[in-house]
Amino acid sequence: MHRPITPDALRLTVLDESGVLEACRQTYRFWHQGRAEEPYVQRVLSAVERMGSEMRYMGLVSEDGALAASARALDGGIECNGVRIRSMGIAAVYVRDDLRGRGIGAALIERLLADARARGYQSAFLFSDIAPAYYARHGFREYPALDWSAPVGSLPASPGLAIRRARPSDRERLRDWHRAAALVQPMGVTRTPVWWDFFRWWRGAPDDYILCDGSREVGYVNVGMDQTCLRVHEWAAPGVEPSRIWATIRARAADLRADRVGGWLRPDRRTGFMNVEARSGAIPMAVSLQPDIALPEPSEAFFDELDHF
Ligand SMILES: CC(C)(COP(=O)(O)OP(=O)(O)OC[C@H]1O[C@@H](n2cnc3c(N)ncnc32)[C@H](O)[C@@H]1OP(=O)(O)O)[C@@H](O)C(=O)NCCC(=O)NCCS
Repeated sequence: MHRPITPDALRLTVLDESGVLEACRQTYRFWHQGRAEEPYVQRVLSAVERMGSEMRYMGLVSEDGALAASARALDGGIECNGVRIRSMGIAAVYVRDDLRGRGIGAALIERLLADARARGYQSAFLFSDIAPAYYARHGFREYPALDWSAPVGSLPASPGLAIRRARPSDRERLRDWHRAAALVQPMGVTRTPVWWDFFRWWRGAPDDYILCDGSREVGYVNVGMDQTCLRVHEWAAPGVEPSRIWATIRARAADLRADRVGGWLRPDRRTGFMNVEARSGAIPMAVSLQPDIALPEPSEAFFDELDHF
């Protein structure tokens, strides 16, 4: 006879490939985003492979090996006033449909946080698609989650910059620009090279353009079409007047016949032409895991769209 599955009867483990396949089977209906099951599974397997040692697919498993809940644990960092805080990213928290409401989700989060502490992580962070109160019970605090958008014609018209498509060999320069731009705000996610490539793939944002001021290359923009809207995934151009970036983005939007421009709002880049609204999902949340680690106030932090797991 099977014993009822309770949180105490479950152990946290790293899933092997058959465990990951079972997690995909359980989560498919919830996270397919219009994909057929096979491409969905291949995307998750590819994510595990691309992240390598920087991501583990974790599960709560019963004595007989049945998977009750799963989540992905990313080896990340939060850059806070120039100091790196090791941080476990928690993604795709999922409890098997028939086991909900018995504290298994809570047990999964608590055990992931205990595992993070044991591994020396100083904090954990996630992007919540559910009521933030669920994670607030475990100490997580909310960070800004605002979107902006604007009709193309309301962005500054000039003077823009020339652009050229970035090559793979430009990656280190892009990372340098990103780091330099990140330093002017108190907190963001640390980008390793694996993280940098992974999220451009995961979020479907492969298009980086180098910004050229005459013969000088001064930064980059990463933009892509989402139906009729040009999404500004991110840009970094230290020392360049932002209106020049917006004018460049406006010209790119006109070339691509977009009718709107928009993206996640980095608070220090809010300007008059933006219509701003609260995002309903992907709400960044973070918790300190050590008494001497104080995370910045929510008003001081920003989590980029290209770090959204
Ligand atoms: C969210 C989820 C992980 C919760 O797991 P669970 O084991 O059912 O939750 P627990 O038993 O630990 O906690 C139950 C409590 O959480 C609350 N809760 C459950 N689902 C919730 C949701 N979607 N949003 C907000 N609160 C939720 C319940 O109301 C209950 O509150 P109570 O204790 O005041 O009665 C589970 O419902 C799930 O897998 N959902 C689908 C995937 C998903 O949305 N994951 C989160 C992505 S950010």
